[in-house]
Amino acid sequence: MRVGVLTGGGDCPGLNAVIRGIVRKGVQEHGYDFTGFRDGWRGPLEGDTVRLDIPAVRGILPRGGTILGSSRTNPFSSEGGVRRVQENLAAEGVDALIVIGGEDTLGVAARLHAEIGLKVVGVPKTIDNDLSATDYTFGFDTAVNIATEAIDRLHTTAESHMRVLVVEVMGRHAGWIALHSGLAGGANVILIPEHRFDLDQVCGWVESRFKIRYAPIVVVAEGAMPRDGDMVLKDGTLDSFGHVRLSGIGEWLAAQIEKRTGKEARTTVLGHVQRGGTPSAFDRWLATRFGLHAVDAVRDGDFGKMVALRATDVVRVPIGDATARIKTVDPALYAEAGVFFG
Ligand code: F6P
Repeated sequence: MRVGVLTGGGDCPGLNAVIRGIVRKGVQEHGYDFTGFRDGWRGPLEGDTVRLDIPAVRGILPRGGTILGSSRTNPFSSEGGVRRVQENLAAEGVDALIVIGGEDTLGVAARLHAEIGLKVVGVPKTIDNDLSATDYTFGFDTAVNIATEAIDRLHTTAESHMRVLVVEVMGRHAGWIALHSGLAGGANVILIPEHRFDLDQVCGWVESRFKIRYAPIVVVAEGAMPRDGDMVLKDGTLDSFGHVRLSGIGEWLAAQIEKRTGKEARTTVLGHVQRGGTPSAFDRWLATRFGLHAVDAVRDGDFGKMVALRATDVVRVPIGDATARIKTVDPALYAEAGVFFG
């Protein structure tokens, strides 16, 4: 049995731990051979492979990024792409493919399974934790820890200067990182994409903090929008790679707060720092278990499935369950955090 492995979409701490788990279990317990495909779906599309055996995965557990490389290539977007993927997998003698990715990468896997019967097993990945059908994705815990540490550090500088500090975290469609790091870091305002915010209310919260001689920390997810957001912000523009670039809500918000309250405000955009570096212990644990269970699914011939975390169990669900809709923050969960605002 030869199993292909690829990692697609934005990188995420824990990808290497998954790859290591897959290869260690596959080789040691089942005698499988592996082929790594470079840069997500670009690898199978162009027949670009990399050696994947026990020596290749040695020492990679704590390393961020992915030894396989990643991209957002979609074979359905190029002429004859699906046929080329099929031909290249056949040329490599690949019997089954483990696809580690987010919504887009797994969406391609689900379509290829449905349309050409590709024997595929999915592993969910995103720091945003916005994939349905799994309680957590690896990478999220690391991102939350990085953001929390940043908020802790920003509290002291905010207090020293009595400034408002706005912290922009990742999360285009879901506010999981903002909510978790904001609560963990003791933020005074948390703004998420699921709930359009009222600028007057935000400024009110900011002013109430100053009244008790505290400098407020405002955590804002990159996809958060003001109530009259259509007037001031666009959803994003496409860059030359076709990726959506959001329009800097953190900077905009700090400028608005400064103008309306007269308090000095600064913005810190955490950006890709949240995706970089070594994974947390939780993410290493989760990613490793996902890798081991993905091999079990291949062994059982249980294709078209994705491994998922339910409480502390790893289960299998149809890949489509994860990609059909984004997992957003429940309004009640967000409301719970409101006691700390202002
Ligand atoms: O991995 C998801 C994510 O981190 C989003 O929160 C973010 O908007 C996006 O990826 C940015 O990715 P890139 O800069 O690689 O396009």
